[in-house]
Amino acid sequence: MRALRIPLDLSEKRYNIIVGGRIDSRFGKAVRQIAGDGDVKVCVVTHPRIERLYGGAIVTSLKQAGFSPSLFRIPEGEQHKQLLQVERIYDHLILHRFERSSLLVALGGGVIGDMTGFAAATFLRGVSYVQCPTTVVAQVDAAIGGKTGVDHPKGKNLIGAFHQPSLVFIDPTTLKTLPKREFVAGLAEIVKYGVIFDPKLFHFMERNPEAILNRDEKSLFYCIKRSVAIKAAIVVKDERESGLRKILNYGHTLGHAIETVTGYRHYKHGEAISVGMMAAATMAHRLGICSDDMVIRQARLLTRLGLPTRLPQLDQAEVMWVLASDKKVVGGNIHFVLPESIGSVRVQKVEEQAILAALKELGLN
Ligand SMILES: NC(=O)c1ccc[n+]([C@@H]2O[C@H](COP(=O)([O-])OP(=O)(O)OC[C@H]3O[C@@H](n4cnc5c(N)ncnc54)[C@H](O)[C@@H]3O)[C@@H](O)[C@H]2O)c1
Ligand SMILES: [Zn+2]
Repeated sequence: MRALRIPLDLSEKRYNIIVGGRIDSRFGKAVRQIAGDGDVKVCVVTHPRIERLYGGAIVTSLKQAGFSPSLFRIPEGEQHKQLLQVERIYDHLILHRFERSSLLVALGGGVIGDMTGFAAATFLRGVSYVQCPTTVVAQVDAAIGGKTGVDHPKGKNLIGAFHQPSLVFIDPTTLKTLPKREFVAGLAEIVKYGVIFDPKLFHFMERNPEAILNRDEKSLFYCIKRSVAIKAAIVVKDERESGLRKILNYGHTLGHAIETVTGYRHYKHGEAISVGMMAAATMAHRLGICSDDMVIRQARLLTRLGLPTRLPQLDQAEVMWVLASDKKVVGGNIHFVLPESIGSVRVQKVEEQAILAALKELGLN
């Protein structure tokens, strides 16, 4: 399969997203292209588990391209997405005399990508970095768009910066080693792209759920390339998330509330988003914005992929309180991204009664 190059043309810089690349000599070559011919220092930031799987291949490919990379390990898990770990990266870079011309490589999921990107944004007031995402979430979402950052004890992603990578290199075959639950949860984001923008992508998923779940290379390549193209197109039109980019939050308003109320322990992000998309579609249907066929098709696809569509037993008042304190509340009204049909959404405020009615329909009591 030939790799696809999707150029991203932003005001700040222009760079390529390569979909369908391989972590072999091709990776090193692509990095060499952006680094130029000089003696550029490279540090690969990753988790020990990912190092065991792909560390050898990535280091070999960088060496083949004439680099002498160092490798820096960060413990796994969202609980380590904190400034302390970024400081450890700085220590390593200072110890090894990294310069403005040096380069970081993020090899891993969104946690590694966000943290490495933030280290790159801030070290020496900004060095270049490459995203080499290895989870579904990172390949279709986190690695694209230049949002970087870490969590604060008071909340997720509170510390951060916009800093665009110089290259995004996506090897979909790395998804084969992803734990099943992690893989399936990531698919929710691809369903999201179908609903907000791309009826063909949605239809493809409806027709090929087994191939996708079996991680068939061709099917994943198609889903990832469409998702990346959509996110890239939206980011180009709204680099700093002031307008259009909001539609990427489809399913996320309630999804985040579910994650918060359950203390981020019971649900993977994508699972919460799956329920969130069902809530948004249910609201849209109740408000006469979309047909019941739209809601049924979405529920059927999510279920077929192994994603949840009903709400767990949560405290109704707590959910509503978290929803009302969400960043996306404008003037006291809760705004939701609501589907009009498969491939088209709008952002609209929804009254509390309509929200509650939809949540009840999905099992909240
Ligand atoms: N910057 C953005 O725009 C953006 C968008 C979405 C999400 N995010 C962030 O991304 C993070 C979530 O990312 P995630 O879902 O990728 O989780 P993650 O980075 O924690 O990765 C999940 C787990 O999978 C393991 N793993 C990764 N790749 C693997 C592979 N190929 N084989 C086997 N195991 C592998 C990791 O070691 C980790 O334990 C959150 O912190 C979220 O805030 C950022
Ligand atoms: Zn998401």
